[in-house]
Amino acid sequence: MSTQYLETTKDVYKQAAETPDVGLCCTTTPVWQLPELSIPTRMLEMNYGCGSTVHPRDLVNNPTILYVGVGGGMELLQFAYFSRQQGGVIGLDVVPEMIEASRENFKQAEVENAWFDSSFVDLRHGDALNLPIKDESIDVAAQNCLFNIFKIDDLKQALKEMYRVLKPHGRLVLSDPICQQGIPEHLQADDRLRALCLSGSLPLQQYIDMITEVGFGTVEIRAKRPYRILASPEYDTQEQLYIESVEVCAIKDPMPADGPCVFTGKTAIYFGQEESFDDNKGHVMTPNTPLPVCDKTAGALASLGRADIFISESTYFYDGGGCC
Ligand SMILES: C[S@@+](CC[C@H](N)C(=O)[O-])C[C@H]1O[C@@H](n2cnc3c(N)ncnc32)[C@H](O)[C@@H]1O
Repeated sequence: MSTQYLETTKDVYKQAAETPDVGLCCTTTPVWQLPELSIPTRMLEMNYGCGSTVHPRDLVNNPTILYVGVGGGMELLQFAYFSRQQGGVIGLDVVPEMIEASRENFKQAEVENAWFDSSFVDLRHGDALNLPIKDESIDVAAQNCLFNIFKIDDLKQALKEMYRVLKPHGRLVLSDPICQQGIPEHLQADDRLRALCLSGSLPLQQYIDMITEVGFGTVEIRAKRPYRILASPEYDTQEQLYIESVEVCAIKDPMPADGPCVFTGKTAIYFGQEESFDDNKGHVMTPNTPLPVCDKTAGALASLGRADIFISESTYFYDGGGCC
């Protein structure tokens, strides 16, 4: 497989480190507004992500955090906001200029944030495809808008690397564009479009399958938002392509014998006359008490064909709780 696209990617982000490219990744995800958190202007201009990977509920119990593909450092600053300790966030990037740019941005962040010290972030040179990190040493790993650039074999390798470095039950938080229609091959093969996070997107189910195939037993789809339209004449496509961005958390739980638990935001509600309904698989539902369920449980409940159990559609905004 040609690895030329990986070199093109490095060139694109060397340039984006030297001159902030404000429109490079446009996202409708609001930037975290938190008490006493000030994000330097240049860091905001270098927000090259397509969602957020910073979710406070992942950050209990003083986790060791790894962030791969640092960009201008905005999400590392946000993680540091919660961890506030020396080396609490390890930041890796393969482009030396990007590491330097984020280092400069952290200096400015020190000026604007009394609570922040640059030593909270441990910046290192490193490749997502070969992480210089020990096995099972990380609690929370994150990447935003990098993995979609990788071709299938490299994506598999990057996911395997994240799985390797996470502790059991550790969390991989991802944000990436997806495209349900599938991106035509000639656009996928355009190295520069791919590097710009425009043509490597997979359909959501394929993206989830790649994650569960490396062993993650639980997957949460936390957000799905409109991202971009690729249309002619700007792009070489007959069909108008609709790209969305997703926020996903993959948890290194053991793989259940009957397959992964994937939460896409479905909820079951029992509204029968009995005191409760028990499916004898660990789900006891009391009347009109909504129970978030994974897609597997939703399917099993639906297959019972009961008129007194309602199952909602996927919202793709799952935010905790539930069946497994
Ligand atoms: C689209 S930007 C996203 C930056 C950041 N995550 C954000 O949300 O702003 C991709 C980042 O990944 C870095 N990168 C590219 N290839 C990489 C690789 N093989 N390993 C690690 N980082 C890489 C780039 O230098 C850049 O910082």
